[in-house]
Amino acid sequence: MKPGGHTFLVTGASSGIGAALARMLAEQGATVGIVARRADRLEEVLHDCRKHAPESRMWPADLGDVELAERVALEAWDAFGHLDALVNNAGIPKRREVTALTYDEIEHTMRVNFFSPARMTLALLPKMLERGSGWIVNVSSVAGRLGNLHEAAYSASKFALCGWSEAMAVDLWDSPVKVRLIEPGPIDTEIWDLPDNDDPLYHGDKVPPEEVAAGIIASLETNAFEHYLPDMKAVIDMKQADIDGFMAGMASMLPKR
Ligand SMILES: NC(=O)c1ccc[n+]([C@@H]2O[C@H](COP(=O)([O-])OP(=O)(O)OC[C@H]3O[C@@H](n4cnc5c(N)ncnc54)[C@H](OP(=O)(O)O)[C@@H]3O)[C@@H](O)[C@H]2O)c1
Repeated sequence: MKPGGHTFLVTGASSGIGAALARMLAEQGATVGIVARRADRLEEVLHDCRKHAPESRMWPADLGDVELAERVALEAWDAFGHLDALVNNAGIPKRREVTALTYDEIEHTMRVNFFSPARMTLALLPKMLERGSGWIVNVSSVAGRLGNLHEAAYSASKFALCGWSEAMAVDLWDSPVKVRLIEPGPIDTEIWDLPDNDDPLYHGDKVPPEEVAAGIIASLETNAFEHYLPDMKAVIDMKQADIDGFMAGMASMLPKR
């Protein structure tokens, strides 16, 4: 599928990957609905999108509230008349060593990164099936395929999104609704600097969010379910081949207590 003439709902579009994706989709002729908490930042993205796609709209909403997430999905469907694609991109980091994590932090991370995408998907899936077409694009992370140090809650939420997407794609195999799983590596966005998180342990290179946005759009023209952006699949393959060796390597990177 090429974006032109199609309607996308993109969550987490006030910054980073989601903002880049919304702008790129609109430039390529798609109408976009954008969702996030910061209305001022959404306004800026919407302004750019409307230069190319005047019907584009925004829904300021906290997707930590899963019932609100469902309402936004249904409102967007009604406002546009249908949605061709739901891109579950909104996400929060949770960089916290496991002994310092609280249950509330884990639950909140799960709500934003997993329950809300699942809830929005369940709301739209019957409509897409009835209409005879649809795309669900879930933005997980390489941390959804390997347990990142000091990111137990974040990894759990992204593993959940990976498992959900994979099983859902099998259930929908013969249906007109297609599922895409996106696993970004280190991308240069605000996620690394957000408050209420430990300092990042990773200080290597980061890829611009536009590269991931372009990769998401390209994923819609392939038959492949899973897309590592950038391509870090070799790291995941290495882990699968020797999980104990992989974990020992990760543990060697822990700061000294
Ligand atoms: N950057 C990376 O290295 C990297 C790596 C792997 C995966 N990812 C994933 O990529 C996705 C996009 O992240 P990003 O890197 O582009 O970071 P970002 O710039 O921080 O973007 C995150 C987006 O999610 C939105 N969001 C966060 N909490 C929300 C909430 N409760 N309700 C509604 N929207 C919410 C944010 O908007 P508001 O703050 O305005 O609500 C923002 O638009 C996330 O799912 C992230 O886990 C990123």
